[in-house]
Amino acid sequence: MSVIHTELCDLLGIKHPILQGGMGPYKTEDLAIAVSNAGALGVISSIGMAATLLPEAAPIDAKRLFGSDADPPMAILEKSIEAVANGTKKSGGIFGVNVPVAAEFLIASEMFVRQTVESIQSDSDIERRLRVIVTSAGNPTPWAEIKKHGLLWFHVVPSVYHAKKAEKAGVDAIIASGHEGGAHISWDPVHSMVLVPAVAKAVKTPVIGAGGFCDGRSLAAALMMGAAGIQMGTRFIATQESDFEPMWKQAVVNREERQTLAGRGLFGPMRFIRNKRAEEIVERTLDDAPRFYLGEPVESNEAILDLERSGFTDLMDGKEDTALMFGGEVVGRIHDLPTTADLINNIITEAKVLLETVPGKVLGR
Ligand SMILES: Cc1cc2nc3c(=O)[nH]c(=O)nc-3n(C[C@H](O)[C@H](O)[C@H](O)COP(=O)(O)O)c2cc1C
Repeated sequence: MSVIHTELCDLLGIKHPILQGGMGPYKTEDLAIAVSNAGALGVISSIGMAATLLPEAAPIDAKRLFGSDADPPMAILEKSIEAVANGTKKSGGIFGVNVPVAAEFLIASEMFVRQTVESIQSDSDIERRLRVIVTSAGNPTPWAEIKKHGLLWFHVVPSVYHAKKAEKAGVDAIIASGHEGGAHISWDPVHSMVLVPAVAKAVKTPVIGAGGFCDGRSLAAALMMGAAGIQMGTRFIATQESDFEPMWKQAVVNREERQTLAGRGLFGPMRFIRNKRAEEIVERTLDDAPRFYLGEPVESNEAILDLERSGFTDLMDGKEDTALMFGGEVVGRIHDLPTTADLINNIITEAKVLLETVPGKVLGR
């Protein structure tokens, strides 16, 4: 069995330096269980759970997503944590919870952090294995309290500036997320090839590369760029166990690297898998240009939210052309639907072979 061991493995107590990115609107319960059982970090996604709380703001129909008995957000997360803890008990798998902390989402963020703390306090097995809260999409500074409860705290950033801010706030690891990534991205189009080494050089805190990673080649590259591991979103959608609609999984497998588009999302821009819906959202987004491209906040655009709401309905109805689906440019490098364990094992094996053989090839004798 191949092993690649980094400081991220020690920090979290995981075998492989791979994180599954939080991916709403699904809870990613099944995916988190599979990833965690395979020795990497599985992550529960909370963003869709807030749909019952913010029916106006979220372009998601909570009842269709979570069933007719859609519970309040904290109860949904509590059940999810229990489900993932039960599904990983045998393997002793480690897992985490992703909590977006965007300004528009703060009431829900507070609830999700509180519920995570309550869950670890009420069960010693959960306390041992639910090791980390991953905050994203907002200002990390108010969330340092997470660490007082014995949890690790990671934060997602799109720039060196934000990485330094996260380090100052006291995070345990920084996830540097490039512009090629799926779903929410930054206003500034800085991709992983520039971002990851720049952040790794600028901070002392361990760095995890995100955006565009999918295989052993890209894991090895991340390690060479100074990262201690990778976070993958889009690659994990296209796995046997992932909670995503079969149509969404197939779209990831079928698309090439030019078939994503960045347009207005819920909190700032998002990267969509290209179809008629994404094209329409991007066209509307252009109404806000050049402010959009300059990264200025633009007031809520109801027309775009409406498009996203009907895109979600079309996703549930299986209409591929008009379904709202997010994904990164890395769709162009994904051509199969493996089990999560095979995917992770192959990534580690490939990265190890490359790290062992490339120096011999390029350094001469
Ligand atoms: C469908 C989808 C939904 C996502 N939702 C979230 C989310 O709820 N919270 C979050 O922090 N990141 C979210 N992300 C970003 C991922 O966690 C991850 O950082 C990103 O996908 C990495 O880039 P990649 O898609 O190239 O692997 C999402 C990504 C995708 C593809």
